[in-house]
Amino acid sequence: MSSSNLLSPLPADTDVTLDGSVSTAPTTPDGSLGFSPVTDDFSGNSTVRARLNGRPLSTTLFDTTTRTPPVRNICCVGAGYVGGPTSAVIALHNPHIRVTVVDKDPKRIRRWNSEHPPIYEPGLNDILRIARDGAKECSFPSEPTKSPLGGSEVNSDISTSSSDCDSQCEGHRSETTTIGARPPNLFFTTEVAKCISEADIVLIAVNTPTKYRGNGAGSATDMTAFEAVTAVVAQHARPGATIVEKSTVPCRTAQFVQDTLALHRPNVHFEVLSNPEFLAAGTAIKDLLNADRILIGSNATPTGQRASAALASVYESWIPRERIITTNVFSSELAKLVANSMLAQRISSINSIAAVCEATGADVDEVAKAIGADPRIGSKFLKAGIGFGGSCFKKDVLSLAYLAESLRLPEVAEYWRGVIMMNEFARDRFSARVVRCLNNTLVGKKLTVLGYAFKKDTNDTRESPAVEIIRILAEEGPREIAIYDPCCVPIQMEEEISRFLGPDMLRSNGGPVVVYADAYEACNAADALLITTEFDEFKTSTISTTADPVPSPSVVQAKAGPADPRPFKSLEPTESDFLALHAYMVKSSTNTTLALPEKDPFNRFNPMPDCSEDCPDCQLQKLTGVAGYGASQGHISKGRLDWRKIHYHMRKPHWLFDGRRVVDISTMEKLGFRVESVGRQGR
Ligand SMILES: NC(=O)c1ccc[n+]([C@@H]2O[C@H](COP(=O)([O-])OP(=O)(O)OC[C@H]3O[C@@H](n4cnc5c(N)ncnc54)[C@H](O)[C@@H]3O)[C@@H](O)[C@H]2O)c1
Repeated sequence: MSSSNLLSPLPADTDVTLDGSVSTAPTTPDGSLGFSPVTDDFSGNSTVRARLNGRPLSTTLFDTTTRTPPVRNICCVGAGYVGGPTSAVIALHNPHIRVTVVDKDPKRIRRWNSEHPPIYEPGLNDILRIARDGAKECSFPSEPTKSPLGGSEVNSDISTSSSDCDSQCEGHRSETTTIGARPPNLFFTTEVAKCISEADIVLIAVNTPTKYRGNGAGSATDMTAFEAVTAVVAQHARPGATIVEKSTVPCRTAQFVQDTLALHRPNVHFEVLSNPEFLAAGTAIKDLLNADRILIGSNATPTGQRASAALASVYESWIPRERIITTNVFSSELAKLVANSMLAQRISSINSIAAVCEATGADVDEVAKAIGADPRIGSKFLKAGIGFGGSCFKKDVLSLAYLAESLRLPEVAEYWRGVIMMNEFARDRFSARVVRCLNNTLVGKKLTVLGYAFKKDTNDTRESPAVEIIRILAEEGPREIAIYDPCCVPIQMEEEISRFLGPDMLRSNGGPVVVYADAYEACNAADALLITTEFDEFKTSTISTTADPVPSPSVVQAKAGPADPRPFKSLEPTESDFLALHAYMVKSSTNTTLALPEKDPFNRFNPMPDCSEDCPDCQLQKLTGVAGYGASQGHISKGRLDWRKIHYHMRKPHWLFDGRRVVDISTMEKLGFRVESVGRQGR
């Protein structure tokens, strides 16, 4: 059997009858841009069953006892925040699978095939260097040694071997682990149709934003990109291929996909799965490597179960089986929307309490600590601030509200819309507080916005509260709005501000906004500073007016970096084990003066591909000589800001508005700042 046939138990163009509990029967797709499957036919089970009942179940062609077919070729459509990192991790842990990420945007693909990928995620670059560029064999001692790079060289695949020691080992037996060379198995290309046609599994990971016009504008999911890809998949996918919804989509989209497939390729069998992604920007790689759950929704048919098992086998390369949850396909679609909505709801809940704290003298952190100690509530996601941003929370809450409206459940819709309303209230209250504290006029004043990304350690700026805050401040006619972000590329920030807020906003076009690559320049002569992203760089520096307290053991460990992961848990270390050791080695080499090849202590990496002319990271480096923005460099922390220095060069009365509660207020006040912080009584 050829590898491309391994997932296609059916001959091409075979008519298939499914076993009926969940429909995959063809219908005419709605085709509208504002598609919401739920409004289509939610009570559809009876209709569907009727159609299914028209076909004899005896024509089922699947042998349910057959083993799960191995997966050899995966195509991911959409090289964005989800498609890129997810495919990279799948490829890392499945060297036997060819993983191709396709996108219609040639610029994006060029960047994925370069030294500077289009997104920054901690740890992504090391994975790309192994999966995309292939890696050389390397060896290292299986146990921690005094010299981190000591050990003999052995040639084999990932393995642990014992060998008789030579004189250098003073008569001991040495244990050496070797990781074999591996060829590239992760590819990025614009050849969408071709790669779809070669895949056993097609992951659809394209953008599904909120519709901004027409029916359902502002709430419904804009399925334009998803629908377009579904049509291409329907035309080009191999018979028997499994189509996976990785994008976050409205509940019952699987039905739409199945219908589209049936419309374009009647009588050809495809299985449709839902496998929503739960990663969060900024921790995408950590989330993918240590996923707390993988959710796979499938039809309850034998073929659905087998497709689900095949996808599960891909994840089982690194995720324990018990963390893979299988459900029906609609439960999986809905669970993703509900997960994000509940997280957003928590943030809005604590932000509503922050407003009460400011009016009463309570402190929201203390309230959060007190309630978080109750295990039924838990301590996570209780940090008050200027509200959530990012591409997902708002749109998923709105999508859930729209779903409820479509189901004629207005009370449910209103409940969830309240989460968004509270988020906007928290953000706008912060802007209003700034204006109020500055005597209700910003004319002639300079304000510095610290943080443009929607959260720390990412350059993702989608739905960032900072953008709306800048817009509100600009309306007050300030002399300057300076912006600094430790992770975003200034040229890109300017491009985005021009796109979202209008080109006239930029100083180069006569507007107030100036983007800086240097925090101190941004803060120089400022009347007020606004912390809008919780970057560690903005936390209170150790330079304080009082002696530093004795650091706790956890702080000491955090400063020391990751611990040596050896000896590994399993006899055959995984790529994750290698990455953990690699991270430890790199950290050791920066902690000590150990002469290690920079970022490649095991000499395992191949050279990275060059960047193209239009690479913004390279342009920035040429312009400023500053590296550390692109993914190839990672986000090199520039260290905590020297707040004393910033204070010295600011204007009186040294306003500092902490929208993320990252600074230590008493320390900052001792330095001379006038601090206003969310959830704490102001002046
Ligand atoms: N960003 C996140 O943190 C996150 C987390 C979980 C789930 N999701 C969901 O995952 C999905 C993807 O999100 P994202 O953040 O990766 O989006 P993104 O905008 O970063 O990437 C989407 C990519 O799809 C490409 N694309 C669009 N139409 C295409 C077509 N017809 N053919 C080929 N390529 C096409 C775009 O060019 C773009 O590169 C969304 O549904 C989102 O809700 C996102």
